[in-house]
Amino acid sequence: MLRIGLLTSGGDCQALNATMRGIVKTVLRNSKEKVEIYGFEDGYQGLIYGRYRKMSWADFSGVLIKGGTILGTSRTPFKLLDTPEADGVEKVPAMVKNYRKLDLDCLFVLGGNGSTKTANRLREEGLNVIALPKTIDNDTYGTDMTFGFPSAIDIATKCIDDIHTTADSHRRVFVIEIMGHKVGWIPLYAGIAGGADVILIPEIPYEMDNVIDAIEQRERDGGRFSIIVVAEGAITKKEAAMKKKDYKRLVAQRVKPSIAYDIAEEIAARTDREVRVAVPGHTQRGGEPNAQDRIFATQCGVEAAMSCLTGEYGCMIALRNGHMMRVPLEEVAGKLKYVDPDSELVREAKMLGISFGDE
Ligand code: F6P
Repeated sequence: MLRIGLLTSGGDCQALNATMRGIVKTVLRNSKEKVEIYGFEDGYQGLIYGRYRKMSWADFSGVLIKGGTILGTSRTPFKLLDTPEADGVEKVPAMVKNYRKLDLDCLFVLGGNGSTKTANRLREEGLNVIALPKTIDNDTYGTDMTFGFPSAIDIATKCIDDIHTTADSHRRVFVIEIMGHKVGWIPLYAGIAGGADVILIPEIPYEMDNVIDAIEQRERDGGRFSIIVVAEGAITKKEAAMKKKDYKRLVAQRVKPSIAYDIAEEIAARTDREVRVAVPGHTQRGGEPNAQDRIFATQCGVEAAMSCLTGEYGCMIALRNGHMMRVPLEEVAGKLKYVDPDSELVREAKMLGISFGDE
């Protein structure tokens, strides 16, 4: 008998179900033994409290195009892993106990950075864990792509596309805030795909003077509008030079809902332009996975299943230079993948005339 467990952890995204379908179909088709499948509800919470469903092939049929996660998810911050739950339950011992109680052979964890760190901790505790790189943010170290990212780019791009008509009609400046947590992958890709004039990302600290210059230059060139794409984690040069704790305090003191509103206010004050803000927010994580996401999620699922069937645990499934592979969890856990400010894509965007606010 082969007993496998599945859980989805952290922020949801579009291709979680597609990935689980890939795992389950492949295991069922290729296992020489009878298979039992346990789906833990709401991420690590399900493993901590032993909340699971015994599942079958039928649960994963027809979910390829379904967004969200059929198992539910939650955030279990890694830094609180050794802090007991409110009811006193010790998280790590509880997870180990429930894994052992079900006599699992392997646990598949579909998660982002924090979840992968926890997966690595479970590996250290002796569990057989295989992680799969989930997040719209694309910031998982060790893989060139994460599932969720391709669909998020499409949604953010569509938002930028749709803003163009109103920006043009009204001669406005639009500040569009794009998700991505501490990194700028979605804003960079969607910004280029959507024809943004300015893209501000955390990896390239900006100065407001340069943003204003870019808007004015566009006006001199005859442009009727400007589209500023700002990452939710974008940062000025002055902020980048601050101590981490001082910057955190500054962010905590912000009275506006988010960075786009601060930037919009400053542009309006320093130019005579009408400025508006658009924040697509969680729509970027919602809806169906696009075709590229479905394919990549399926590849991740198949690779993870085969890794389990060949007894290779303690790894994360990754895409590197066009090839699927397994990378040791301890090599990737706890590290973030940032946009390289000197990458070809950034250089090409600059050559095209997109401003990153740094010069
Ligand atoms: O990690 C995915 C993400 O959508 C980030 O882009 C964003 O910063 C964060 O999650 C939002 O988290 P929550 O859904 O908990 O508000």
